[in-house]
Amino acid sequence: MTIEELYDSKGFYYFCTDKKTHHSYLPIYSELFAKWEKEPIRILEVGVYKLGSLRLMEEYFVNAEIIGVDNTTYEGSVPLNRAQVIIEDFYSSNRELPPLHIAIDDGPHDVASQLAFVRKVYPKMVSGGILVVEDVMPGFKEHFDSLGLPYTAIAFYPPTDQADDRLILIRK
Ligand SMILES: C[S@@+](CC[C@H](N)C(=O)[O-])C[C@H]1O[C@@H](n2cnc3c(N)ncnc32)[C@H](O)[C@@H]1O
Repeated sequence: MTIEELYDSKGFYYFCTDKKTHHSYLPIYSELFAKWEKEPIRILEVGVYKLGSLRLMEEYFVNAEIIGVDNTTYEGSVPLNRAQVIIEDFYSSNRELPPLHIAIDDGPHDVASQLAFVRKVYPKMVSGGILVVEDVMPGFKEHFDSLGLPYTAIAFYPPTDQADDRLILIRK
């Protein structure tokens, strides 16, 4: 089963993430992440809102260690079994990060925080790991070029009404 098929089997009201409603990310994640479904990897997501994306990752990556970070807690959050949730401002925190296979920035989505995420997290990615920045606005090129890292930008067609329905992928 892919991560998109898992999401589809229980739906938005169970997984409570916008990664397949306002955004188009789950088909890409299904391809990128399939090799890690049962592997003992470590995953970081920054910006976890009501924890729905962590629930999806817990159920898909059955042997992964999953870390979510958010600077706010939200009423109506879904229950979790394994994922660790850290409440703090990720971008100004001095907390040491462990080695990571998958890292997703789904935080405040301004370009300054997106670049800060890459600078902070990329050094912690293991060889073969994938860093993802979600919800990247048009005009990203000059900003992301300034990082000096090869990256892939994926916009979706046909375009949705979301100007930021765009991913940046950086492989290590
Ligand atoms: C789009 S929501 C995340 C959605 C979630 N990943 C999902 O798929 O359902 C963005 C989240 O980023 C969090 N956030 C904003 N600024 C932050 C910061 N400085 N550090 C950590 N989290 C932050 C917000 O509180 C919010 O929960």
